[in-house]
Amino acid sequence: MAQDVRGVIARSKGAPVEVTTIRVPEPGPGEALVRVQACGVCHTDLHYREGGINDDFPFLLGHEAAGVVESVGPDVRDLAADDFVVLNWRAVCGRCRACSRGEPWYCFSTHNATQRMTLTDGTPLAAALGIGAFAEKTLVAAGQCTKVDPSVKPEVAGLLGCGVMAGLGAALNTAAVRRGETVTVIGCGGVGDAAILGAAVAGARTVIAVDVDDRKLEWAKQFGATHTLNSRATDVVEGVRGLTGGFGSDVVIDAVGHPETYRQAFYSRDLAGRVVLVGVPRPDVTIELPLLDVFGRGGSLKSSWYGDCLPSRDFPMLVDLHLQGRLPLEKFVTETIGIDQVEQAFEKMHAGEVLRSVVVL
Ligand SMILES: NC(=O)c1ccc[n+]([C@@H]2O[C@H](COP(=O)([O-])OP(=O)(O)OC[C@H]3O[C@@H](n4cnc5c(N)ncnc54)[C@H](O)[C@@H]3O)[C@@H](O)[C@H]2O)c1
Ligand SMILES: [Zn+2]
Ligand SMILES: [Zn+2]
Repeated sequence: MAQDVRGVIARSKGAPVEVTTIRVPEPGPGEALVRVQACGVCHTDLHYREGGINDDFPFLLGHEAAGVVESVGPDVRDLAADDFVVLNWRAVCGRCRACSRGEPWYCFSTHNATQRMTLTDGTPLAAALGIGAFAEKTLVAAGQCTKVDPSVKPEVAGLLGCGVMAGLGAALNTAAVRRGETVTVIGCGGVGDAAILGAAVAGARTVIAVDVDDRKLEWAKQFGATHTLNSRATDVVEGVRGLTGGFGSDVVIDAVGHPETYRQAFYSRDLAGRVVLVGVPRPDVTIELPLLDVFGRGGSLKSSWYGDCLPSRDFPMLVDLHLQGRLPLEKFVTETIGIDQVEQAFEKMHAGEVLRSVVVL
């Protein structure tokens, strides 16, 4: 029997989100029904409601979540009712060309639930990143559920489901920061601060935080930034070179995704350094760079999809580090809110007042 629960939807482009009743089907083959306990508000949810991802309105928002499995489809073997899980948007297929060559973190054919959640009149909902977890219950593919140590707080664990994993992974997996390197992170929201934390955990010698907002730079220090630059007041390229012996940093992570920040990243990196783009650009922007500089500066220009994470490998490990006191993930949770406060959370995000607002159910 399908169940009716409360969920947060974006009905049309730019309109404020609303709490409404959604219909969640019983899990079929390969699916799991999850009782959501916590779900963080990510910038990507705002991108969805602004029509910046696609036009498949109405969207069921929310995708950084943790909860407890209520039931699973008939053929699901490695997941059962009462398992505590973090939801992921990379349920790897095991068969695509990335998976077959042993790089499942790039999986090109990830699984989502086959059945759609709907409004009560039957209108199908597009679940944000195939999750849709600003809802009391959500239907996902069983592979989207990653079991972790249940002693972690749900509002902390859920953050690994998207932005914090993307940032940590941009540093740890995509850039593969090594002990002693210099790292610059542009944009110190939840994603950028997680990249700063990842760089610190990897043993970076210098971690330079760049933002346009002094409050964000203050917070960035709590995650391991050794230096900060306000790019409204200082030229980023000059500033980074000044803090790295005149050379630029070994790794620059762009956690904003504007042409301006990408250009700063490109030129504030040392010769043969790595640029990692983890911020998601708007669909209409382009960038022009002298091709000779692309060649002559060497190194690599990479993108980081979801921190190139493998949920089954990374989530349990990161939760363990957190529970041992070695990864202060709780610092990302600025506030916990009710399901009816997502729109206000977007406003606070826009005003730079929060790292993460987390809906607790
Ligand atoms: N690659 C992925 O898999 C992935 C996953 C999650 C989120 N993201 C993306 O990462 C980006 C950041 O997400 P977030 O949740 O941290 O957002 P956020 O809004 O919390 O943080 C953005 C930060 O960038 C700063 N900023 C804005 N313009 C700037 C500029 N020109 N120069 C320097 N700093 C600037 C803001 O002050 C803010 O601190 C978004 O684009 C989001 O969609 C990517
Ligand atoms: Zn695959
Ligand atoms: Zn997200």
